[in-house]
Amino acid sequence: MDREIFDFFTTLVEKVSGISYGAGKEYLVESRLLELAQTLGYRDLNEFYLKIKNQLSSQLLNSIVDALTINETYFFRDTHPFETLKNYLLPELFKRKNGKKISIWSAACSTGQEPYSVAILLLEYFNQYLSNYEIKIWATDISLSSLKKAKEGVYNQIEVNRGLPIHFLLKYFKQKGSVWEIDERVKELVKFDFLNLLEINKRVRENFDLILCRYVLIYFSNSTKKRVWQNLCQLLKPGGYIILGGTELAPSELPDIERKVIGKTTVFYKKE
Ligand SMILES: C[S@@+](CC[C@H](N)C(=O)[O-])C[C@H]1O[C@@H](n2cnc3c(N)ncnc32)[C@H](O)[C@@H]1O
Repeated sequence: MDREIFDFFTTLVEKVSGISYGAGKEYLVESRLLELAQTLGYRDLNEFYLKIKNQLSSQLLNSIVDALTINETYFFRDTHPFETLKNYLLPELFKRKNGKKISIWSAACSTGQEPYSVAILLLEYFNQYLSNYEIKIWATDISLSSLKKAKEGVYNQIEVNRGLPIHFLLKYFKQKGSVWEIDERVKELVKFDFLNLLEINKRVRENFDLILCRYVLIYFSNSTKKRVWQNLCQLLKPGGYIILGGTELAPSELPDIERKVIGKTTVFYKKE
């Protein structure tokens, strides 16, 4: 792909979403953009670029960002964070909150497997508490196509084979032909919304007991990572936890945030 075209699209997407495409990502960017361009009726990327470079609607900008997001996810990703949630963090939250509101946020939820995995844990192991607590899982992402799929809650056989224990599949999904639809009880615990992580300081007014922000900061430049991390930590309630992806480090040290290893998981705790 032409350097000028690559730079135009990647600069645009980085400005909007923070996602930074370094060297080596040319093929990915080109193939994703070409697919979008052809869906929109353009012959090739050159024609697409010439047409849009001076007049870009916000709808088309969303489609370009969407095309270049990496939405890899699966149920109970990495297993151990969900063991830690089940065995330590959720029991502690229920105990500490004692019949009040519990707010959980899956920030960058992709196609929904992450928040639905938390909802399944709640139904399976904490069902007796659910009627006494006001509990909500807020799940957000910048990719509109991922959010659409997440809201539908319909997954193919390959998707349900990835990470989801068979007993949960049989208990919390209904088979419909070749796909599996997640049960209404699970869906009811999760609310999906469009949200750009670069704008959380302006858009999010609530504070959270638990934030999962997994495998998204890795796509940002160091300065963006630090900024989003600070904003996330600000939105955490004292006594609350942030969980990052299994291989991710905290982008910066903050005086009120303590790194702890609970079970096999590194978590970030906000001091009370
Ligand atoms: C690799 S997926 C991770 C999904 C899930 N958290 C997990 O660990 O399985 C990264 C997600 O981050 C989203 N994303 C990227 N930049 C974003 C931004 N600026 N704001 C919100 N979501 C973003 C992408 O759309 C994608 O769905």
